[in-house]
Amino acid sequence: MERTVQDILASYSASSSLAEAYTIPAPWYTDNRIAELERQNVFSRTWQQVGRAEQVARPGQYITTTVASEPIVVMRGSDSVLRAFFNVCHHHAMTVMNEPAGHAQHMRCPYHGWTYNLEGELRGMTEFEGVCHFDRAQNGLVPVRVETWENSVFVNLDPHAEPLVDFLGALVRLAQPLGFGDLKFVERRSYTLDCNWKVYVDNFLDGGYHVPHMHKGLNSVLDYTNYTIENVDRCCVQSSPISIDDKSEASAAATRKGDRAYYFWQYPNFMLNWYEGYLDTNLVIPLGVDRCEVIFDFFFGDTSESQMPYIMKSIGVSEQVQQEDIAICAGVQRGLSSRAYRAGRLSVRREAGEHLFHRLLAADLKDIRAVSAP
Ligand code: FES
Ligand SMILES: [Fe+2]
Repeated sequence: MERTVQDILASYSASSSLAEAYTIPAPWYTDNRIAELERQNVFSRTWQQVGRAEQVARPGQYITTTVASEPIVVMRGSDSVLRAFFNVCHHHAMTVMNEPAGHAQHMRCPYHGWTYNLEGELRGMTEFEGVCHFDRAQNGLVPVRVETWENSVFVNLDPHAEPLVDFLGALVRLAQPLGFGDLKFVERRSYTLDCNWKVYVDNFLDGGYHVPHMHKGLNSVLDYTNYTIENVDRCCVQSSPISIDDKSEASAAATRKGDRAYYFWQYPNFMLNWYEGYLDTNLVIPLGVDRCEVIFDFFFGDTSESQMPYIMKSIGVSEQVQQEDIAICAGVQRGLSSRAYRAGRLSVRREAGEHLFHRLLAADLKDIRAVSAP
């Protein structure tokens, strides 16, 4: 007999100490009903990064995206106010804006030509004379919460959500000295992985546990034994001293600068990896119960032409690490579907970040407000 969702949720105990804890059980990574519950209780209620502030700096600039399967457009109005909307036409539901990003004078639906202004108000309907009881003012695009922090734009589908800075909590204070806002965007890379989105997050949060085994190049420039892991609010900060010697791999040694590396994770699916003069952000988007997209945006302090060889080499080091992680994540997803595996234990020294992630997730999934009956 198929297990109920309640039964699957109840099989994880969030009250165990790290030394006693198990991971969330395998069905949380493989059951479509859990993925749907995450869509409702996690991705429809948390602040989700959707792009970069410089993409929507000027009136008419916009970003389109998908959050919790909902089409969204973020638009800078002609009054310079940043707004977000469900990107759904009131006529017959076509997505109004259909480029990933750009600049527009107004928002024109491509299907039958209805037009909305940059503030989302419906301005023009073609061939609609004689239609009764139609209030144009009630047919503007439906608004969504939008706020910015440092380089990033976030939206939240929950109209009652706390402000973004409150949601980010300690991250705002911890990241402030690193000067993310001074870094300039260089390139985006996107990857599709054959794993549940949480497998990628778990892999990020294992406190460097896998680094000596899977990332030889990266490991050669980190002081693994002095790696630190700190949980604050909804954030886990991992940090490692940089240690370069004659055994360090050459391209990693040339591109991972400064005294320390900082790896921030913000619940549920956003990461920031910082070295001196370098930042990449990672956004993990579920595409199905066993597939996800990971979007990397790369930023650098000095983006002058003479720095391009260094920048390309630096992105290359990240690409190498990412390819190694992609292979791990696909292997883990296969194992999670095996009858031989139920749940795992956590290293007290290394895996406190995963423990925080699993407890925050369990709290949201068990939140009765949106748990639907099986
Ligand atoms: S669906 Fe947009 S104009 Fe018809
Ligand atoms: Fe990794």
